[in-house]
Amino acid sequence: MKQKIAAVRSDFDLDIKSAKSAADIENLRVKYLGKKGPVQQLMKDLRDASPEERPELGKWLNVLKEEITQHLHEKEATLHQSEQDAKLVEEKIDVTLPGNNRFLGSKHVLTEVLDSIIDIMVSMGFSVQYGPDIDTDYYNFEALNFPENHPARDMQDTFYITPSVLLRTHTSNIQARVMEAHKPPLRIIAPGKVYRNEAITARSHVFFHQVEGLYVDQGVTFVDLIATMKEFLSKLFKREIPTRFRPSYFPFVEPGLEVDVLCLSCEGKGCNLCKHTGWLEIAGAGMVHPEVLKNGGIDSEIYTGYAWGMGIERLALIKHGIHDIRLFTENDQRFLSQFVSI
Ligand code: PHE
Repeated sequence: MKQKIAAVRSDFDLDIKSAKSAADIENLRVKYLGKKGPVQQLMKDLRDASPEERPELGKWLNVLKEEITQHLHEKEATLHQSEQDAKLVEEKIDVTLPGNNRFLGSKHVLTEVLDSIIDIMVSMGFSVQYGPDIDTDYYNFEALNFPENHPARDMQDTFYITPSVLLRTHTSNIQARVMEAHKPPLRIIAPGKVYRNEAITARSHVFFHQVEGLYVDQGVTFVDLIATMKEFLSKLFKREIPTRFRPSYFPFVEPGLEVDVLCLSCEGKGCNLCKHTGWLEIAGAGMVHPEVLKNGGIDSEIYTGYAWGMGIERLALIKHGIHDIRLFTENDQRFLSQFVSI
């Protein structure tokens, strides 16, 4: 019987050495300590031993059972640890790997410029109004003192939808509407898209953006117009920017003018962007024509006003030194991402 105990012991020692997993350990537990296992068998055999031998053999058997149990435990613990270690190595996170890029959307450069225009004008006491892109001939032309068949209508090549409905050619279509709806003092800006039937080139497009400005009150003068324009431009460009006011003609203002700023691309020396003149036109402006005030229901004996229409693309061109307005609508990431500000 002693030999049997020793044989079980050495079998077990061999088996446990080759155990590789928790499942192997469980199998060994069943194999050696289970009901049909050798330890149970030896317990049964013990009954047949002589009374003298029995206490000693019993002790040996108990030691065998305890040692097997303990070894199984220990092996289980070491296997668990090494499984854990292997898992840690396998699942190791390399914190130095670059992260996943998440692409953030960003504002279009024109929206950015428009937002700064709105911020500046609102800080100067103007509120924001919006007019329709599709409008009637009346608001786009007639109310603005363009009589029917007047040659001044040819200044702006118009997309007509019907003979009396069109795509607005300028944001000035807001003027009579605002005058009809509100009493002076009026101090508004009106940003939006405008449309003209022109060839698409580096400098002209079939649609672009303007911001109309309109100020009507008692005693508004030409000086107010010039001063507000200059103040606005120096805030937008964050520097004093040389400005030139040239007399011009628009049926809805008198006097009328065009506003140029120094070409910042060449600082006035002359380049492609400014057609070698050193200046870039950014707006039409003037004192609101009494006829327009009248059309808007405002007494031109009491009130005066000024208006301007600024080109947003033009301001963006100058601000960022862009040489082709087609780039604004081509959706080329290489162009757009240059203006991303986070
Ligand atoms: N609406 C004119 C244009 O688009 C600009 C303008 C606006 C001129 C207001 C004078 C006053 O050319």
